[in-house]
This record gives sequence, C-alpha cells and structure tokens, in this order.
Amino acid sequence: MAKKIVAGNWKMNKTLDEALILVSEVVNMVKDEVTGDVQVLLFPPALYVSTLKSYVKDAPMVSIGVQNIHQKASGAFTGEISAPMVKSLGLSHVLIGHSERREYFGETNEQLAEKVDIALANGLTPIFCCGESRDLRENHDYIGFVKNQLTESLFHLTAEDLRKIVIAYEPIWAIGTGLTASAEQAQEMHAALRGHLADKYGKELAADISILYGGSVGAGNAAELFAQPDVDGGLVGGASLKSRDFTEIIKAR
Ligand code: G3H
Repeated sequence: MAKKIVAGNWKMNKTLDEALILVSEVVNMVKDEVTGDVQVLLFPPALYVSTLKSYVKDAPMVSIGVQNIHQKASGAFTGEISAPMVKSLGLSHVLIGHSERREYFGETNEQLAEKVDIALANGLTPIFCCGESRDLRENHDYIGFVKNQLTESLFHLTAEDLRKIVIAYEPIWAIGTGLTASAEQAQEMHAALRGHLADKYGKELAADISILYGGSVGAGNAAELFAQPDVDGGLVGGASLKSRDFTEIIKAR
C-alpha cells in the first residue's frame, strides 16, 4: 500500500527569518492537529536546510529535503549542490525533474535518470516530477508523453530501486495558475502511471509507489483530489507558503 505524503515546495521564496517563522508554525500545527499516518516533506531553498532541520527534529512526521541536486557527485559546477552533500546533512529527500527545472534549466529525461541514480546511490529518496504542458494536453497524446517521462528516467532501475521512488504528477498548466486538474483528470493520469509501472514492475510493486498530485492544490480542493484511489497525497507550491493552508491540506490527505 502506498504511503500518504504531503510535500511543500517553497521554490525560491522566503528570507531566512520568514522561513523560520513558517517552519515553526507548520511544525506546531502538525504536532497539535495532525494524527495518523502521513509523511510531511518540506522543500525550502537549499541555503536554509541545515538551519531548518533542527526545527523539525521533535516532529517525526516532518522531514526536510532539497529542491534539486546535480547529477555528478562533485566537481567544478559552480553554484550546484550534490547528492553526497545532501546526504552529509542527514537529509532524506530530493525533488527531481520539477517542470520549472525542465523548462528554465533545460533538464532532460536522460539527465534526470542520472540524477535519480546519484540520489539513490546516496540513500536519498527522489520525488520524481512529471507532467504535460497545456499544448500537449489539448493536442497530443498527453498520457503517452508522461508515461514516456517515467520510461526514460526511471525504467532502467531495478525493482528494488524503483520501490524507493516517489512520483509527483504535476500538469504544467495547473502549476501556480489556480487552474487545478479536476479530481477525474488527476485520477485518470495517476491510474495510467500506476498501470505503466505495473506493466514493467508488476502490480504489487506499482500499488506500493506513492503518486502525488501537484498543481494549485489548496485547502479547498485537497480533500477531493486526495480521495481519488490513485492519488496518494500532494506536492504543494503556493499554498505550502501559508502554514494554515498547508496544515489543512495535510489534514485532508
Ligand atoms: O512543486 C509544486 C508545484 O509546482 C505546484 O505549485 O501549488 O503553486 O501550483 P502550485
């Protein structure tokens, strides 16, 4: 059975002081209000992860990760951070292939396969992001396109390694636009992706992979999205910057 996960991607937002307030509020609200089995992941800007880590140590449900890593372990790559560095901080999760990385930094499926590999080699859990543009959705085989993102970046993995992956489906047209996919649209894609995993790795393994939905998830629509049988939680952008909204989303899982 797939684990329920709610992740907050802070993207390039918040000064340090603001980040400390946000993480404190989230931790307190989660401790006071969230019961049961859910994993909460926070992806703040990498500059802050060391500091923020100490704020979540008393909240076992909450972990901190990074928004990106380089595909090499070390070297002359100014400005980048590596999987061994993330591991050395004792962190456990990394976003890989967010659509903003693909679009603004030209990340390809092939490069993302390398990032997945180095994350796994360093004991990190990749949250592998995938999703189609509006043009693809309206004019092309959008399900085939997203399945292919999985094929090209993940299907070289052994079953043992695939089991360590979390998938986040984020239709690009729904990110930061207020235009969320309907619950039916999310379920359609999630079921197709789980079926694609099942074709390659078997039904049992596919059922254990958490597939998160991302794209304008908010306190008002989370419950309906998360109620879909193949939606195992969310990757939340804008609403994760507001502690009250984010907590309501966690509670809706
Ligand atoms: O990583 C998060 C996604 O890009 C969703 O962002 O919730 O602001 O639409 P959003």
